[in-house]
Amino acid sequence: MRIIIGENYDEISKKAALIVAAQVILQPDCVLGLATGSTPLGLYRELIAMYQRGEVDFSKVTTFNLDEYYPITPDHPQSYHYFMYQNLFNHINVQPENIHLPNGTAEPVEAECSNYERMIAAAGGIDLQVLGIGVNGHIGFNEPNPYLHARTHLTDLKEETIKVNSRFFQSEAEVPRQALTMGIGTILKARRILLLASGENKAQAIKKTVQGLVTTECPASFLQTHPDVTLLLDREAAALLG
Ligand code: PGA
Repeated sequence: MRIIIGENYDEISKKAALIVAAQVILQPDCVLGLATGSTPLGLYRELIAMYQRGEVDFSKVTTFNLDEYYPITPDHPQSYHYFMYQNLFNHINVQPENIHLPNGTAEPVEAECSNYERMIAAAGGIDLQVLGIGVNGHIGFNEPNPYLHARTHLTDLKEETIKVNSRFFQSEAEVPRQALTMGIGTILKARRILLLASGENKAQAIKKTVQGLVTTECPASFLQTHPDVTLLLDREAAALLG
């Protein structure tokens, strides 16, 4: 694992944007795996600014998002679909037909999951996957459990995840209890992985990810088995690394 430590959130957001932009410049028709949550917001803000300055062109890029709540409609303000359009896609020149997110209204859900895997494979696989990390060590919505799923699947959210994510909803009761997510194997098939973490509440999960045993109880620890992972951390998130 390559570990890059920045002073603060702004610095890691700018570095992350340079890494993603470099990928797109080197390979204009690349496939990006994208993440939602608070952490990548700075990265997306920087990418929009680079696009507006004419420094990067997304017209040939294909995107696949990691996950989506289930059930949720795409126009729901807390859907990841809505988040991605608001915070990135509406502001850059990625082509609508090249954007993919799991469909939070799909039925039957198993067909949606296998179709998502097929679409990723048909696009040639993910070149660069951007990840955040949960305080419990989840990546995507692969929650700590005695087992993990390899491929895209429907999963139950953990109580702690529902609590943490309730900050975006009117109340905890409104947070969907399930989500569609790429599996751990889907994520590990990406050619390169860039994980961003900021803040002291991520420090424990980062320590386990980097220095702990590879265990389903910390899904991010599986990143230790991947040949090309970069962790981009601010000082607080890196604080417990020995
Ligand atoms: P956050 O979420 O970026 O909002 O902290 C990360 C995650 O849960 O994967």
